This record gives sequence, C-alpha cells and structure tokens, in this order.
Amino acid sequence: MKIIAGNWKMNGDVKSLDNMINDLSGIDTESRVILCVPYTMLRAGNDVVMIGAQNVSKFESGAHTSEISAKMVRDTGAVVTLVGHSECRDALHDTNTDVAERAKMAILNDLIPIICIGETATERDMGLTIRVVENGVRESVPDNATDGGFIIAYEPRWAIGAGITPTTQQIGAVHKIIRETLNDMGFTDTPILYGASVTGANAHEIMSVPNVDGVLVGGASLKLDDFIPIIKNAE
Ligand code: 13P
Repeated sequence: MKIIAGNWKMNGDVKSLDNMINDLSGIDTESRVILCVPYTMLRAGNDVVMIGAQNVSKFESGAHTSEISAKMVRDTGAVVTLVGHSECRDALHDTNTDVAERAKMAILNDLIPIICIGETATERDMGLTIRVVENGVRESVPDNATDGGFIIAYEPRWAIGAGITPTTQQIGAVHKIIRETLNDMGFTDTPILYGASVTGANAHEIMSVPNVDGVLVGGASLKLDDFIPIIKNAE
C-alpha cells in the first residue's frame, strides 16, 4: 500500500475540496490518500480520503494570535498535519527543533505528523545533502513519536514546484539513508514519502524506488485530472 498525499498549499476553496473528495471517493484504490488543505477547509475525511492540515502551532493554547493548535485541527475531524514543510521553514524560520515541537503537539493530539525534511540547492551543491537529511530526521522527530505514528517526507527544496526531480538513483540514495536513520532510532515501520515535482508521468517510476512508500504532491494534487493518474500509478 502506498501513501499519496496532496498538499494544496494556499489554494482551493470549500467547494473545490467538496468536489475533490466526492470524485476521489468513487475510485478503487489500495492506496491511502491524504489531502492537506488550508485551515478554513479542514473537516473529517472518509474511508478513501484522510484530511490534514499544513502546520500546527508548537504551543498548546494562549496568546499566539493567528496560530492554530493541534487540538483545534483535531477538533475539525482532520487526522493528519504536515510539519516542517520547506515553505514554512522559510517563512517562519523553523529549525528542526521547532519542527519537533510542532510534531510533538500533533502526536499529543492524535494527529499523524508528516515531518518534511530536505536540502536547499546550496546545501546540495556543497555536498551536504546526506548530512542535512540525516540531521533533519534525528532532530525533527519528537521524543513522543511511536513507530508508524508519524510519516517522513523527503522534499529536496530545490525541486519543489520547479518541474525537475532528482534521478531515481539520487532519490534512492537519500531514502536509504532516511531508512537507516529511522531504523537506528528504533522506527522500523515508518513510511517515507518523496515530494517535489511529482506528476502522473513520473509517479510510477518514483514509487518503484526502494524505500519510497508514497509521494507528497503539490501542484498536481489540485486538479483531479492530474491527481488521479498519480493515485493510479501507485498500484
Ligand atoms: P510540487 O509538487 O508542486 O513540486 O510541490 C511539492 C510540495 O511542496 C509538496 O509538499
């Protein structure tokens, strides 16, 4: 079973999510489909589609104007949240420690965090990919994490929204390091997703790479015609 997660970023509206859930609910798939949507659209999903947020606060409650707590997200019926997405790491200056605190709150409130990690173009060019990714896993996974209770997403930051992907060899090498790191931490049953410029055309090849348990999809998750081929290509 693969995990196909969509990240709608700051796109869509309630009606477009209604339509997407409705259309996806009719498909026959073995995969686990997740849609991470803006806060205003959060709700409970169904047997086919799990609904998730795109971030949660590291605080429990209180004077944090504009923030949304993990408890509030869970209260909508949503069951998943992204944490540490590169766009949030950039905008909010989140470190791995901040990401771990957000993931910790997610787990405390019965949300499955999808913990995103990945190297920038500069880090890649400096040969730091493996170090950044390994540190990302070790430092962003919180101390209350349980095996299978969270998901890792590897998103090379230079490939997000860029229409380019690393080679399958590069993806395989990074996912192998992530798997070994997770094993070393005692997490032998934790899924690892690949994300960045995934489309219907490359999804099958990417998901055939060892240690790729699914994909995290941005742009191509917004339209059914783009998203369905990715789900179909998981089989
Ligand atoms: P794209 O699929 O648009 O490259 O976005 C990837 C991403 O950021 C998913 O979280």
